[in-house]
Amino acid sequence: MGDIDKNSPIGVFDSGVGGLTVVKELMEQLPNERIIYYGDTARVPYGNKSRETVIRYSREIAEFLCEQNVKAIVVACNTASALALEDLKKAVDVPIIGVVKPGAIAAADATVKGRIGVIATRATVSSGIYEEYLRAKRPDIKVFAKACPLFVPLVEEGLTDDPITDSIIHRYLDELLEQGIDSLVLGCTHYPLLRDSIARAVGQDVTLVNPAFETARSFKALLEEKGLLSETKEKDGQKPVNTFFVSDSPEQFRSFAGNVLSIRIGAEDVKVKAFVG
Ligand code: DGL
Repeated sequence: MGDIDKNSPIGVFDSGVGGLTVVKELMEQLPNERIIYYGDTARVPYGNKSRETVIRYSREIAEFLCEQNVKAIVVACNTASALALEDLKKAVDVPIIGVVKPGAIAAADATVKGRIGVIATRATVSSGIYEEYLRAKRPDIKVFAKACPLFVPLVEEGLTDDPITDSIIHRYLDELLEQGIDSLVLGCTHYPLLRDSIARAVGQDVTLVNPAFETARSFKALLEEKGLLSETKEKDGQKPVNTFFVSDSPEQFRSFAGNVLSIRIGAEDVKVKAFVG
């Protein structure tokens, strides 16, 4: 890792648009870094695919980002972090982090009663990885995990504030509330976009933990530790130009980024790069 250029861009990837919630945090916490994002919009969702498939997709993307000369990678997808991160660490030569460990550490710090809810895709829940990290930090913690597969399509349809969404949130979360949780990990990159509706449903006694925020913090610390923070400063209020790759429909991606996350992306800054199979 000795000859990595600190002024190279950082690579970020997700199964689709959800990782943009992490991009938003990275832009705020690391405003001088240039981002190359890959959203696998043709193959989303990863959350109900096998471990082998998620590893294969994640490796293709990480290798592609390395071809773009990124200096470090953020796996901005809980499912890929849960299933593929250990494999990716062996496959690439740059520092790489996922969203699960930072989220778990933040939740362990947030809980008072030691009763934590985790909501995520089916693949992330069945990997048991949040429990593993949480118990490693505090063995007395009780974890109540619940897959919420309908949340991703609700977000993608823009139904982030809607009575239908409220009712589905209750359907999924009431059983966690009955367990007396005091913290809830939003363990899928789409879920922070439902934050207000989830907060209304769980009430103010439950702390919502957003791994996107914690990941950006951990990633900044990692770049500092490796001496890889960019030396390029914002000039005359100009932000670094970021590049976005998607495997399907750049227009849909741009409109989601603009409408749902207020991230304005120029048409020339989104490119299509698809993998075979
Ligand atoms: N980005 C995925 C995650 O954070 C959710 C969408 C999917 O299933 O691919 O787990």
